[in-house]
Amino acid sequence: MSAALGVDPFDFVVFGGTGDLAIRKLMPALLFSECDGRLPEKCDIIALGRSKLTQADYSKAVRAGCEKHMKDNPFSEDNWAAFEARLHYIQLDVNNEKDFKILRAKLDENGDRIRVFYLATHSSLFGDIGDQLKKAGTIHEKTRIVLEKPLGMDLKSAADTNARIGKNFEEDQIFRIDHYLGKETVQNLMVLRFGNSLFEPVWHHGMIDHVQITVAETIGVERRGDYYNDSGALRDMVQNHLVQLLCLVAMEPPAHFEQDSVRDEKLKILKSLRPIVGEMVQDRTVRGQYEPGAIGGEATKGYLEDCNLEESDTETFVVIKAEIDNWRWTGVPFYLRTGKRLRQKFSEIVIEFKPVPHQIFSSGAQGLKPNRLIIRLQPDEGIKLIMTSKVPGPGGLRLQQTPLNLSYSDVFRSRSPEAYERLILDSVRGNSTLFMRGDEVEAAWKWIEPIMEGWRRSQMALSLYPAGTMGSSAATALIAKDNRTWHDGEEL
Ligand code: BG6
Repeated sequence: MSAALGVDPFDFVVFGGTGDLAIRKLMPALLFSECDGRLPEKCDIIALGRSKLTQADYSKAVRAGCEKHMKDNPFSEDNWAAFEARLHYIQLDVNNEKDFKILRAKLDENGDRIRVFYLATHSSLFGDIGDQLKKAGTIHEKTRIVLEKPLGMDLKSAADTNARIGKNFEEDQIFRIDHYLGKETVQNLMVLRFGNSLFEPVWHHGMIDHVQITVAETIGVERRGDYYNDSGALRDMVQNHLVQLLCLVAMEPPAHFEQDSVRDEKLKILKSLRPIVGEMVQDRTVRGQYEPGAIGGEATKGYLEDCNLEESDTETFVVIKAEIDNWRWTGVPFYLRTGKRLRQKFSEIVIEFKPVPHQIFSSGAQGLKPNRLIIRLQPDEGIKLIMTSKVPGPGGLRLQQTPLNLSYSDVFRSRSPEAYERLILDSVRGNSTLFMRGDEVEAAWKWIEPIMEGWRRSQMALSLYPAGTMGSSAATALIAKDNRTWHDGEEL
């Protein structure tokens, strides 16, 4: 096993420092790194926000967020004291040049350390923030900028943002984040495929029947109703997380595990996705919205009530039947599915292999499904290969499906780090292998945009589903048309 990499001294500046992402994910990730001794001695965390807050108010909010979101792994008082000493809050209005001068003065106190500007704001502000950072003279050679997803609301706004950011930063300074790429099991997917010789020979249309990628959530829109209602699940989840997972399952082996090799291969997949245009949306997509229901026995509000709206056409659930037009994948559907307020939280990739060409165990094999490789991203990260086995004992040859089980928590007893921990430190190191390149983001929009357009033109209605179910019946019907069924995270 190789040793873990360290990082050089750095300053981490968060735009949107009081927002949901910063409080729920970024600060806990940084505090985890503190607890693990991964932050160098010289490292300041500067949070920026429009609210007028004292340093003490901000620390209190961060601590409450960390207590809530790190509850299974509490931090010690010593950890908190060390972390709090690094934490600074500065009130900043992105339109105010003077505020950027104050930021510059703060950064200058630390000389020419690595600087990471993390833009956890709406992407419509990215261009302006980049310009202001440039004008204030805060950008030097060791500066990186991290752009939170979704980048843009469509192809044009994404391309405009890429162009504006590109005026002030070199491509190797730009880190377009998709935190799914930092999840342990997502990285392990590449290791599984390209670090073992076993799977590659069966990884194609001759052996694989179809692929299912599901990201199911039980949470609703939380404090992000305004953003979410403009965005919807297609932009919020599919354009980035699900499409990136599809790329990692489908891409050709890159020559090296390094930024451009990996991203070049993902780009080829994005460009081979069959466009879903016009009337095709009716057949190949589902858009749904949750109604009141119950999750885990608790009554749950519907989307409209969650967002305080009388009406909304925003989708909280999406299914897409995607196809890749290349030699490896022709005829293999990739079913993508994501939704909020579903029955259980799980993210999973299921590779279903073709049935055996000729069944010799005619009586004992009835009802058994073909082999499946299940890659569980969360919770209970792990990989299962579902095999057909003989049930021990006399009484005829009876067959049953049994898993070969690689459970992460059983094999690796240490805590599985949060995706943001890894990605934040990668951005400090300047390693963008697990980040998206500008052309990838634009290619993903090129595929997504006709779907949005098809929905709009055909005025495709939302199919409603009660909270606490696995989405609308239209999702079951979509896959049933192909004589297939969803794998709903069930255990064997
Ligand atoms: C974010 C989306 O990118 O991912 C959220 O904006 C979603 O709507 C979240 O809840 C899911 O992330 P995770 O890591 O909890 O699966």
